[in-house]
Amino acid sequence: STTRRFKFNVGWKKVTRLCHTKSILTVNGEYPGPTIVVHEGDNVEVKVTNHVALNTTIHWHGIRQYRTGWADGPAYITQCPVSFGKSYTYKFTVVDQRGTLWWHAHLSWQRATVNGAFIILPRMPYPFPVPIQKEIPIIFGEWWNSDVIAIENEMIQTGDGPNSSDAYTINGLPGPLYSCSLKDTFIQTVEYGKTYLLRIINAALNDELFFAVANHTLTVVEIDATYTKPFTTEAIMITPGQTTNVLLTANQQQQQQQKTASDSTGSMFVMAARPYLTSVFPFDNSTTIGFLHYKSTTKTEPSSSIQPPFPPYTLPKNLPAMEDTKFATDFADNLRSLASFQYPCKVPKTVDKKVITTISLNLQDCPVNENCKGYLNKRFLASMNNQSFVRPSMSILESHYKNLKSGHLFSGFPEKPPNPFNYTGVDPVKENMNTEFGSKLIVVPFGTKLEIVLQDTNFLNPENHPIHIHGHNFFIVGRGFGNYDAEKDPLGYNLVDPPERNTVAVPVGGWAALRINADNPGVWFIHCHLEEHTTWGLAMGLIVQGGKNPSQRLLPPPPDFPPC
Ligand code: C2O
Ligand code: CU
Repeated sequence: STTRRFKFNVGWKKVTRLCHTKSILTVNGEYPGPTIVVHEGDNVEVKVTNHVALNTTIHWHGIRQYRTGWADGPAYITQCPVSFGKSYTYKFTVVDQRGTLWWHAHLSWQRATVNGAFIILPRMPYPFPVPIQKEIPIIFGEWWNSDVIAIENEMIQTGDGPNSSDAYTINGLPGPLYSCSLKDTFIQTVEYGKTYLLRIINAALNDELFFAVANHTLTVVEIDATYTKPFTTEAIMITPGQTTNVLLTANQQQQQQQKTASDSTGSMFVMAARPYLTSVFPFDNSTTIGFLHYKSTTKTEPSSSIQPPFPPYTLPKNLPAMEDTKFATDFADNLRSLASFQYPCKVPKTVDKKVITTISLNLQDCPVNENCKGYLNKRFLASMNNQSFVRPSMSILESHYKNLKSGHLFSGFPEKPPNPFNYTGVDPVKENMNTEFGSKLIVVPFGTKLEIVLQDTNFLNPENHPIHIHGHNFFIVGRGFGNYDAEKDPLGYNLVDPPERNTVAVPVGGWAALRINADNPGVWFIHCHLEEHTTWGLAMGLIVQGGKNPSQRLLPPPPDFPPC
């Protein structure tokens, strides 16, 4: 098989958006970062060199890392960071995966600017209904005028929620609804009659997003690098961490009618993304837009001739309003595995072990002599089964690998909520107050068929928690609102074609049931992909022990593995 090699140089770069110039952390000076394109089955080697006086790591989000947990990337879970002046080469093989994934820094809030697309071209032709003219990566992000790490530190100090970003972005560009941003607008040229594959990635730190293109429908064909039964929709919902491939056909006749001399630009359609959640401190124009530009059929003009000021436009009518939970729910309900002969659905039909865990935002009394600015002058924190995750100062994977027998160090994550209560009617002051701090993980033997039920406690939380699991995909066999009913809800599970993903949006005030084939030996981080919640401790992990057969065990650490 082929080995594909890449060089990632992490360094500062001056970038200007919204008339604010600042140094941002980048890979190879690019923002968003470089796109990696490989083929299914390839060996991949990425040499990451750190040129800044900050620790860093890179995570290959959604890549299974079969037996190569050393290359997964979350700081202090699988590795110690790459320090100033050092390099580490991430080596892994893309086994039985194809589609759109992404990569991002996995320490602190660095992923705000250190991220990019990771595209795996399939070995077999696409199972899509139409030929693709072109593939277009679309990365959503957030832009902060101030320093992102400073915002993170401030939020840790005050115990309060972070500031909102100053803009959402499409491929790093906020678009014309923000002030001083007219020229930083994403424009995609298309040709009438052709179909395009949009590879959509939500790299935003803290917001789930809706996305729509005026006058065009989107046909979802893949989520988190797994094929889905195609379904056509007016808009999509995508959480941080998720990826969604959609087909877009440039079928607007209007373009044909406007072949007049006055129309030197062909026609334009607005594409727009806006958050699902109304921020506590909503900022104006919290919608990023770009344009789909139909190439004129009468002139040959480069797309760069499309320049501001843009012709008058309005937001797409098909863009869901903020807090449109009905849209979010219906959209998620429409996602189904392809479950074809070529790509069968491998959902476990039976379960060896079941873990039920709350996912909560909590409040902690303010320590004396501190000035906490969270709700009721307390500190926010977050937990799963009342365990608020504390990042250790060593690589858990390394300690696990070196003392296979005394691997109890990080075990003991509770398999049920400590004291079941009415999860969705929580009183923020009375419930959820006895949070423990630690680094407890679930430990399972190789090959365990695991079910994890995630129960949102709906406490001060008006949004979905996008829970991400490293090292494994999972099947979302059930979702619902209210309290999970361990007797009745399993009767409604989809064990035929449930969606397969690496990041699930747990419905606000509801639950999601996941099934996992735990067949990848190693230590795997499980956490909310809203960065603020991870900072508050909404995380845990899964240790999958090695199997009997040597091919079911973790490979040894590479020689350049960073020391702590
Ligand atoms: Cu995309 Cu643990 O991350
Ligand atoms: Cu969350």
